Amino acid sequence: MKDWRQKLWQKVKKKIDKESMALLEAGVGTGKNIAYYPNGIEIYGIDFSPKMISKAEKKLKKQNKEAKLLEMDIQNLDFEDNYFDLIVTSCVFCSVPDPIKGLEELKRVLKEDGRIIMLEHMRSQNKFMGKMMDLFNWVSLYTWGANINRRTIENIKKAGLEPVEVNDLMSDIVKEIELKK
Ligand SMILES: C[S@@+](CC[C@H](N)C(=O)[O-])C[C@H]1O[C@@H](n2cnc3c(N)ncnc32)[C@H](O)[C@@H]1O
Repeated sequence: MKDWRQKLWQKVKKKIDKESMALLEAGVGTGKNIAYYPNGIEIYGIDFSPKMISKAEKKLKKQNKEAKLLEMDIQNLDFEDNYFDLIVTSCVFCSVPDPIKGLEELKRVLKEDGRIIMLEHMRSQNKFMGKMMDLFNWVSLYTWGANINRRTIENIKKAGLEPVEVNDLMSDIVKEIELKK
């Protein structure tokens, strides 16, 4: 995961070419991505769990990073349309209650020439593996609150977002994805 995170943020940083850019991390969790936050641009991090936000706040201070962390639901973002140049998610769309609504909201707040960069796990396209993931989804949902059988690529398309690049990192289950409007 550390390697994948590093590569994800290298990709994000390559896209930063002016100080006026704004970046949103949707679903910050405990703040594992904070160490990779770039300096010098406007950064918002949101999560609908106040506990996660307070843990992330501690990391932000400890790591001396600049960002605004807010309690907010991805499915109902309190940002104006076309605000962000970059949006990052990692391991979030396995637990967003209505993933299509969440993705539509990300699209709404993304600038016309903006990019969404994701590191997400999803249901395998392999017939056997996919069925196993359906069968055991309740276990992961019960034990760590995340679905293992989300059809994230389909959901992305249903939300009207366009994949620019999709890289398989672990089989076809963990992917690094770049999206545009
Ligand atoms: C598995 S954690 C990943 C956290 C972090 N992105 C990381 O890579 O460590 C998923 C996070 O997404 C958040 N989340 C899920 N659905 C959300 C929603 N609708 N709005 C905001 N945050 C959400 C959860 O509260 C949780 O903190």
